[in-house]
Amino acid sequence: DVAELQARFDAIIEADQRIEPRDWMPEAYRKTLIRQISQHAHSEIIGMQPEGNWISRAPSLKRKAILMAKVQDEAGHGLYLYSAAQTLGISRDEMTEQLITSRARYSSIFNYPTPTWADMGAIGWLVDGAAICNQVPLCRASYGPYGRAMVRICKEESFHQRQGFEILLELSQGTPEQHEMAQDAVNRWYWPSLMMFGPPDDESPNSAQSMAWKIKRFSNDELRQRFVGMLVPQAEVLGLTLPDPNLRWNDETGQWDMSEIDWTEFNEVLAGRGPANAQRIQHRREAHEQGAWVREAAAAYAEKQAAKQRQ
Ligand code: ACO
Repeated sequence: DVAELQARFDAIIEADQRIEPRDWMPEAYRKTLIRQISQHAHSEIIGMQPEGNWISRAPSLKRKAILMAKVQDEAGHGLYLYSAAQTLGISRDEMTEQLITSRARYSSIFNYPTPTWADMGAIGWLVDGAAICNQVPLCRASYGPYGRAMVRICKEESFHQRQGFEILLELSQGTPEQHEMAQDAVNRWYWPSLMMFGPPDDESPNSAQSMAWKIKRFSNDELRQRFVGMLVPQAEVLGLTLPDPNLRWNDETGQWDMSEIDWTEFNEVLAGRGPANAQRIQHRREAHEQGAWVREAAAAYAEKQAAKQRQ
């Protein structure tokens, strides 16, 4: 009966073991995982756009090859995550439909434009850096397929973060114009990257339950603090400044003091009114429509193969 199933589920979570697709799970657990994993998958897929913008304009063949590989990795991450979400009983078609009709969320960060090459550095350093901070603990998420997908994703994210750091380092140590371009990109991406961790803990409706279920292992603010602590020494090596005059370590609280994040901007982006929301969704919708013939051809081929097998 349900009480017994619930008790078995609770015991698995309590023992830090994993829930697998065929195990019984509370409906709310299933729903929250579908929500988080599909949002995460959509973020990877939409996240290809800001950088895809620079593939044809990368400053050298080597940079172009690296950037192409990185954007392809993001497609791969999206696919593992869609597959993980599918194990919970939602189809890929449903998730795509939710995305292109703006009924699904994806990370706020991908609604900002990428006007300069230095943005490729700032995205790698800050955006992928934030992604790693958030995702390393997700490797231990209680749902097996999600945690396992995260292991490989995190390895690739570390490479992405280093390539971004290296782009910024080279620009920072280049001509005064290049240094300024790197600083400008860091100024524009710093605050949005802090928003990636989500609302403050006291305004995060999902955190308590997700932490009790061991999907999330740390709170939004804890991870944001950890991220800032990681950036400070790296910014020094880069010779770049983090654009917050109030940023300093507080020995008494054991935390970084920082200026207030502009939550109005965050809420605007979440409401679909960020700088590039409309463009991102329109581009995704067009790509999906233009790919219809590929899906039809693949389905026809699969049907033909299945018919041959039946003969
Ligand atoms: N961008 C867009 N939406 C956000 C963001 C953000 N940066 N932060 C929070 N939200 C949304 C949540 O999805 C939630 O919306 P919903 O209830 O309608 O689904 C709402 O704001 C309230 O937030 P929380 O209660 O804090 O939500 P949650 O517990 O899910 O925590 C978090 C948010 C930290 C983003 C979590 O979902 C998570 O860790 N997700 C996996 C990582 C991920 O998605 N990364 C994507 C960017 S990294 C990359 O792809 C390279």
